[in-house]
Amino acid sequence: MQAAQVLSQSGLIGLPTETVYGLAADALKAEAVGLIFKTKGRPANHPLIVHVADMSQVALFAHDVPAFATRLMNAFWPGPLTLILPKKSGVADAAAGGHTTIALRCPSHPTALAVLQAAQSLGVQGVAAPSANVFGSVSPTTAAHVREAFPDLLVLDGGACDVGIESTIVDCSRGAPVLLRPGMLSLSQLSEAAGLAVLTSTPPENMSSSADALKEQAPAAPGMLASHYAPRARVRLMSVADMVSRLKGCVVPVALWTRSDMKLPTAVLRFAMPHDAAQCAHELFAQLRTLDAQGVQEIWVETPPEGEAWDGVRDRLQRAAA
Ligand code: TXA
Ligand code: MG
Repeated sequence: MQAAQVLSQSGLIGLPTETVYGLAADALKAEAVGLIFKTKGRPANHPLIVHVADMSQVALFAHDVPAFATRLMNAFWPGPLTLILPKKSGVADAAAGGHTTIALRCPSHPTALAVLQAAQSLGVQGVAAPSANVFGSVSPTTAAHVREAFPDLLVLDGGACDVGIESTIVDCSRGAPVLLRPGMLSLSQLSEAAGLAVLTSTPPENMSSSADALKEQAPAAPGMLASHYAPRARVRLMSVADMVSRLKGCVVPVALWTRSDMKLPTAVLRFAMPHDAAQCAHELFAQLRTLDAQGVQEIWVETPPEGEAWDGVRDRLQRAAA
């Protein structure tokens, strides 16, 4: 397999996963990992997720794996869950960005698993991969999105990503599980599988608060900035009632993404937002690109509903709007 060969020769590939596409390289080679940071334009102290073919590879990278972390892996691997664990000293220092912990994930996309297995047989024990976008921009959910950002990269086409937003990250290095990045696995699903309550690093009431409140919170994970996933046009989150009243007398060109249909001035474009959280996550990043491509100055998005099913979508939209 050509992709596995490129990885084994310290090269970069565009790798489909069930969450988003990754910019992948051998996690144990500092030179290969350096290429990721350089290509993406990402600061080298922002740690990367190491992707493994199965649970047996965890021991190569991590030590003192708590029982609740093993239960989480058993429940959700392969799948859209990343665990932060104490890092073995002397391994994957570049991928860990100088941190004493390491982020590990076993993806479920069949192409990702096939590449990880083939690469492993060529001596690649783990594959570091951030989302395959330029630092700070919208994450890619199709091979075309990756090619647009990195035209010279070998990109495997695994179709549109099922989940559509990045993996849920749970820190398992602090004695109790702590949610660092919401994704499509809910707090209650995670807590049930872990066998104890998964804590949030921010109070739950803030999960649905305004982008301003989010900005004031300390970053939950190194490299998780309040402003992220940002298209060119300015993104604003608001209720439909606010949209209707602001549209009166609005002079800048806008495009809307709303669950509710409404009567609109002819010049205003509206795209339909799914009522189902999983479907909304699946479409989110591609939709932000489509909205941006309308050449409008502002993108107005209807505030997602309350409830934990929407935590991942709400988080990404708040960052896009921050
Ligand atoms: O779904 C995903 O997780 C995708 C696909 C490609 O697997 N990858 C992804 O990677 O989203 P990236 O680099 O865009 O986001 C990784 C996140 C960052 O917010 C980083 O701060 C956090 O993981 N992270 C990595 N290592 C960490 C560590 N040791 N401690 C805390 N956070 C860590
Ligand atoms: Mg990213």
